[in-house]
Amino acid sequence: MTPEPQYLTGTDPTTGPPPGCPAHGLGPGGLHRLYGPDAEDLGDLYERLRDQHGPVAPVLLHDDVPMWVVLGHAENLQLVRSPSQYTRDSRIWTPLLDGEVKPDHPLMPHIAWQPICSHAEGDEHQRLRAAVTAAMSTIDHRSVRRHIGRSTQALVNSFCERGRADLVSHFAEHLPMAVMCEILGMPEEYNDRMVQAARDALKGTETAIQSHAYVMDALSRLTTRRRARPEDDFTSHLITHPAGLDDDEVREHLRLVLFAAYEATANLLANALRMVLTEPGFRAQLNGGQMTVPEAIEQSLWDEPPFSTVLGYYAKQDTELGGQRIRKGDGLLFAPAPGNLDPRVRPDLSAGMQGNRSHLAFGGGPHECPGQDIGRAIADVGVDALLTRLPDIGLDCAEDDLQWRASIASRHLVALPVRFEPKPQQDVDLPPRAMPLPQQRADWQVGTLSSAPAPAAEPLPAPRPAPDFVPAPAGPDRPKGVWQRLLHWWRGE
Ligand code: HEM
Repeated sequence: MTPEPQYLTGTDPTTGPPPGCPAHGLGPGGLHRLYGPDAEDLGDLYERLRDQHGPVAPVLLHDDVPMWVVLGHAENLQLVRSPSQYTRDSRIWTPLLDGEVKPDHPLMPHIAWQPICSHAEGDEHQRLRAAVTAAMSTIDHRSVRRHIGRSTQALVNSFCERGRADLVSHFAEHLPMAVMCEILGMPEEYNDRMVQAARDALKGTETAIQSHAYVMDALSRLTTRRRARPEDDFTSHLITHPAGLDDDEVREHLRLVLFAAYEATANLLANALRMVLTEPGFRAQLNGGQMTVPEAIEQSLWDEPPFSTVLGYYAKQDTELGGQRIRKGDGLLFAPAPGNLDPRVRPDLSAGMQGNRSHLAFGGGPHECPGQDIGRAIADVGVDALLTRLPDIGLDCAEDDLQWRASIASRHLVALPVRFEPKPQQDVDLPPRAMPLPQQRADWQVGTLSSAPAPAAEPLPAPRPAPDFVPAPAGPDRPKGVWQRLLHWWRGE
């Protein structure tokens, strides 16, 4: 059924349903609010909206500002791949032009136009994006994977002897920051304070402004240093690119990259680890070798994309999307979370999506995430190394006690408490190893490597294969020197 055309702009606030009507509690025009009590479970609300309106639904943002949310997979792709019809430049958004969106609107940090590639269009987008993509292409992926492995080893060392940890605050929030500080060229800035500052700035707490200033100060110092003397890192390549970014543009793009990478990848790590720890099917498939860690990460990107929605896209002309009439100046939410669950693409949500990477987690079209390989590498190597070190890891609370902090843009796991037998620290420069468990063998294992003690003659037990490593044949036919080759691979030699 094609839903009745709805007009977002000029929604009459007096047309709300009367008290006693089943629709009471809805906003003006009988529209659902994506905030407040109506939106406590946004996933459920999106499905109700899909039933009611089809693949594109009219909704209300904070202060009852009208918006379209795009629920269909194909419609989301159409939105992001049609730059002639939709832009990310909010300055054409009718509610903003009409003053309906006040400067103190809670979503202003997402909405307000900024001179960065995310909000730029056409030639200007190409100029800025070319510099970002070129700087990204200079990143040596082998050395990044090595750094991810080392950082994971160091993080696990910080809690392995305790036998318990919170994988959100001790691991998922730290690893992307450690890796991004290295990539940008400021490894010395990675510490607890930097992680706290980024977390605080994104949460929008009362100290968010100081925390944001702390991060920006580090990025300004880095920009000044590299402008004076470029090195071989992301920041230097951004500065020296022929696009000629000035210092403000460099700083703003470093901020964009650092925050996008930190927030999305921390979410991805937490979501993927939560799935491994709580979903028996996941655990069994990893155990049985039917699923690899990269495939598990990809499944997590389908089921719980780190950015549930991206605010926003704006119509440049009157048009049509998913059977709805969109007016010039209307705003639309690009929505990977409901888009990835579109029944036309996934009639059976319990069916695995192995081998299928056509989810919406990284967006698409001209603004498609340029850092997806890095995000995937952090998650693949980090999760694999963590599970290798702690094969007996288990959730340290009832699954129902896990809590999320949800906003329109994303859904964060607040904490992921885990328990395991205390383990000794390991050399961060060596590949992660499953150390013999002091007690009996764990009742399940994620990796293919046995947790049984290694033979005494071997100097080190063979590590679990890394995600992109083709395992050598086991047993007597195993060629000599496999350990050395693996060590060379790990060191990037
Ligand atoms: C798992 C991790 C990640 C996810 C799920 C993710 C997702 C996204 C999404 C959905 C967008 C917006 C697309 C749009 O505007 O339509 C985006 C943009 C962007 N991401 Fe990522 N991202 C991730 C990691 C990273 C990393 C590691 C970096 C940097 C190293 C990065 C850098 C960027 C940049 C610069 C943009 C803006 C691109 C543009 O507007 O042209 N992201 N990302």
